Amino acid sequence: MTVIAKQKILPECKKNAAGAPVLLPWLIKGCLLAHKDLPKILHFDKAYDDGIFNPFWRMQMERKFFNFHGLPFSTMLTVISSFLSRLGRAAIEDLIDVKNSSPFHYKLRFSDASECEQEKMAKEETYILPKSYPMVGGDGPYSYAKNSVFQKTIVDCAKEMVTEGIVEKLDLQSLGFKNSCTFRIADLGCSVGPNTFIAVQNIIEAVEQKYQAENKNPSTMEFQVFFNDLDINDFNTLFKTLPPDREYFAAGVPGSFRNRLFPKSSLHIVHCSTTLHWLSKIPDEIVDSKSPAWNKGSIHCNGFAKEVVEAYSAQFKNDMNSFFNARAKELVPGGLMLILISTVPDGVPASNTFEGMHYDFLGSCLYDMAKMGLISEEKLDSFNLSLYFPFYGEFEALIRRNENFTIERMDKFTNPTRKMVSSAEFYSSHMRAGFEGLVKEHFGDQFVEPIFNYYSTKLEENIGSILDAEIHDKIELLVLLKRNTN
Ligand SMILES: C[S@@+](CC[C@H](N)C(=O)[O-])C[C@H]1O[C@@H](n2cnc3c(N)ncnc32)[C@H](O)[C@@H]1O
Repeated sequence: MTVIAKQKILPECKKNAAGAPVLLPWLIKGCLLAHKDLPKILHFDKAYDDGIFNPFWRMQMERKFFNFHGLPFSTMLTVISSFLSRLGRAAIEDLIDVKNSSPFHYKLRFSDASECEQEKMAKEETYILPKSYPMVGGDGPYSYAKNSVFQKTIVDCAKEMVTEGIVEKLDLQSLGFKNSCTFRIADLGCSVGPNTFIAVQNIIEAVEQKYQAENKNPSTMEFQVFFNDLDINDFNTLFKTLPPDREYFAAGVPGSFRNRLFPKSSLHIVHCSTTLHWLSKIPDEIVDSKSPAWNKGSIHCNGFAKEVVEAYSAQFKNDMNSFFNARAKELVPGGLMLILISTVPDGVPASNTFEGMHYDFLGSCLYDMAKMGLISEEKLDSFNLSLYFPFYGEFEALIRRNENFTIERMDKFTNPTRKMVSSAEFYSSHMRAGFEGLVKEHFGDQFVEPIFNYYSTKLEENIGSILDAEIHDKIELLVLLKRNTN
C-alpha cells in the first residue's frame, strides 16, 4: 500500500508504453477526488467543500480524463460512480485513510495492482459502458418504433425457420418439463418494439406447438419474457406498448448483454435479433492518428483497409466471446439460443453492400459539412459508427469455435426490403432512428438537426443512383444454438 498526499496526485499519473494514463491508480485516485457522492457515502460533509471541485483541479482532471480512452469527463464520472458502487463502502474506506482525513488535507491510499489486474479491470470497464447507443425512443417521426421495417422484415422472414427449429430441437424432457412449467425467454437488445413483441410471440407459439405435439396441454405452461436492452433504452415506451392481449409475464432487464444479466441456468430460450453487430466500443486504434488502422476518411468499417478491418474484427470477436460466456451460464443445459445477424459475403468490402453504401453516403455528407465549416473536421475524424458486420465465414468460424454451444441449424436468407422501397425519406428516417443517439453523443445536440437535414436533402437528390448501384446482398443468418449439457 502506498500513501500519497493529495497534492502529489496529478503529477504522478503513470503512462503506459503508448503514452496513455495507466488505468487503475488513476481510476482510484480519480474516484476519490471526483466522485460527487463520495462525501455522502462516507459522511465526509466537510471534505466536499474542500475544493474537490475547485475549477483548477477539475480542469486538470478533465484534461487527463479526456485523453483517457477518448472519454469525455461526464462519461468518466459515470464509470467512476459505477466503479465506486461496485467497490462498496468498506473497500472505499480501505482506500482512504479515514482517520487522518481532514476537511482541508486528507490522505489517500491505493493498492499497487499488477499490470495484469489493471488490464482485466480495463476490460471490465469497457463492458460497463458500451459505446453503442440505443435507437430513438418514443413514437415520433424518427422513432425506432416507426422506423424499423428492415429489422421487422428479418424477424418475419425468419418466422418459419424459428418455428421449425424450436419444434425439432427443443427437448422438453431434458429440460425437465413434465406436466407444468414456467418457460423463460429473453430477448436481448430488444429496443422499444414492435419487432421484439412479434419475435417473442413467434417463439411462444412454436413452444406451444412443440408442447402439443407431445400430447401435453399447453395451458399448463406459463411464459415469462425478459426484455433486455441498455439501461438508456426507452423502456417506458416498451412497457406502454406491450401487447394488451399477451399471454406472458413481462419484465424489463436493463444492462449490457456483454455481461451476466440473469441467474445461472435460468433461461430456456434466448433470442437476439439485429443487435450483435453493435460493438461495445470503437477499437482504440481506429481513432488513433498514429496507428495504421486510423480510419480517417470513413465513418465505418468499409472493408478497404486491412488494418481497419482487423481492428473492428478483433473487437467483434472479443464482444462475441463475452456474449457467449455470459449466455453459457444463464441458459439451462439443452436451452436454445436464436441469433439473427447480417453478414457480409466473404471477400466483399462492406461498402459494396446496401448498408455499407448508405454509411458511405452519410459519411460523404459529413465530410461536405466539414469542408463548409458547418461541423469540426477534427470531430469528424474521430467519428465512427460503432458497428461491425462480420463476414459470413468469419462468423461461422467464431460460433464453431465456441465450446459451450452446438450449432443445431444455420439458415441463410436475404432481406427483401431494399428491393421493395424506393423512398429517400424512408431510408433517411431509418438512418436517423438508428444513429441519432451516436451523432448527438459525438457532435452535440445542436448538430443533430443540421446533420440529418443535410443528409436527407442530399439523399433525396441522389436516391436514384444509390438504388441503381451494383451491389451485393448481405447474407442474413438465423443461427440456432443449443447449450451443451456438460
Ligand atoms: C437495431 S436494434 C434491434 C432491436 C430489435 N432486436 C429488433 O429486431 O428490432 C439494436 C438494439 O441493440 C441494443 N444494444 C446494443 N448493444 C447492446 C448491449 N451491449 N446490450 C444490450 N443491448 C444492446 C441497442 O440499444 C438497440 O436497441
